[in-house]
Amino acid sequence: MEKKVYIETYGCQMNVADSEVVVSILSDNGYEYTENINEAELILINTCSIRENAEQRVWGRLKAIGHLKKKKPGLLVGLIGCMAERLKENILEKEHLVDMVAGPDAYRALPLLINDAGSGHKAVNVLLSQEETYADIAPVRMDRNGVTSFVSIMRGCNNMCAYCVVPYVRGAERSRDPESVLGEVMELIKSGYREVTLLGQNVDSYKWEINGERTGFPELLEKVAQADPLLRVRFSTSHPKDISDDLLRVISKYDNICKHIHLPAQSGSNRILKLMNRKYTREWYMDRIRAIREIIPECAVSTDMIAGFCTETEDDHRESLSLMEWSEYDFAYMFKYSERPGSGAARKYPDDVTEETKARRLNDIISLQNKLSTKSKKKEVGRIFEVLIENQSKRSADHLTGRTSQNNVVVFPADGHEKGEYVNVLIERCTSATLIGKIVAIRI
Ligand code: 5AD
Ligand code: SF4
Repeated sequence: MEKKVYIETYGCQMNVADSEVVVSILSDNGYEYTENINEAELILINTCSIRENAEQRVWGRLKAIGHLKKKKPGLLVGLIGCMAERLKENILEKEHLVDMVAGPDAYRALPLLINDAGSGHKAVNVLLSQEETYADIAPVRMDRNGVTSFVSIMRGCNNMCAYCVVPYVRGAERSRDPESVLGEVMELIKSGYREVTLLGQNVDSYKWEINGERTGFPELLEKVAQADPLLRVRFSTSHPKDISDDLLRVISKYDNICKHIHLPAQSGSNRILKLMNRKYTREWYMDRIRAIREIIPECAVSTDMIAGFCTETEDDHRESLSLMEWSEYDFAYMFKYSERPGSGAARKYPDDVTEETKARRLNDIISLQNKLSTKSKKKEVGRIFEVLIENQSKRSADHLTGRTSQNNVVVFPADGHEKGEYVNVLIERCTSATLIGKIVAIRI
């Protein structure tokens, strides 16, 4: 009988995609995936290191799983992903909560590590690779909607933003063969999927060269969009220093490329952007937003903001707020700066903004974004949008939920429709996070 593996995923979309690769590797090696932790012989935790609280959460989980381990001799627990890479074999020493450790480039070695751990040996592989993209592995989809999926197009990161741990835990940037990306997309289409999100730390620097033929991100995106006009295509994340007008023109040219760009600003202050090693200025960033508005007028824009980076003053903070107002973001992820051991900032700058000040500035940023998000939603009331139905609404069985091209979540009465269908929805009202409406028969 096959053994059962349970996997829990923390962090970004990239980790969600990686967990699907891990389950694929294990299912070729005698393991069956289970959603029930109690029946698993192997528990894997796919982890994130981006901020300290992400790691704290994982320690909490490991302690809870430690109780299961006591009750079930032979149960193996593996820590994989970014936190595994960052802490390496040190994790094994901590209260024997973990039997094996595998970094993001070591997933092909998992069957071996499981054997080692099962026979009581030290099981650690945290080697980073220059080439590994898992291009030949067909991910086992664990999402439950069967409509939207992630496709990883590259791994690693070369940008070296001063606050960020990613280049250290995910290694150098490498792109995946476009043929294998397209192959995966075609498989998804065949299985009934209607939306893919192409993933990379910085998709704008995607590149693949073979026999003198160069494929950059605009070309790759175009090929994926051409695969099927009924397949929606999204992508994340773009870097302001690299996002080109060529890319914006491709987005504008295809109806099935979603009109939403996630373009993290991080800060609005030139002094802080320089310390962060973001390699663009406020003015450059504003020019990119201007280009988006000009080339793709109906495009939604979202951002990431960090409050309280090293040496940030009230003036710097006000510049972040004013950039947000100017950009009129539709959505934002907002964080307090969290010093990561080994990062450029940890080595070079003092983490000198007090916790209290970080919290207050983050609050200012969140309040402003709430105002901007509400404004962004309100302007959609009275309009009709094409919505791809993704699921039943969590609140009500006779309501459905889906998203507009701009990535706005919409809730509406089912009216006999099902997930996977495109419907036109008239927006009747909104909250700061959701549009609410009804299906209409009118074409747009
Ligand atoms: N502290 C706070 N936020 C961070 N991010 C990355 N590193 C840190 C850090 N050390 C944020 C950035 C990035 C997002 C994924 O997480 O805003 O875009
Ligand atoms: Fe971190 Fe910058 Fe890479 Fe994003 S692009 S993961 S912020 S180093």
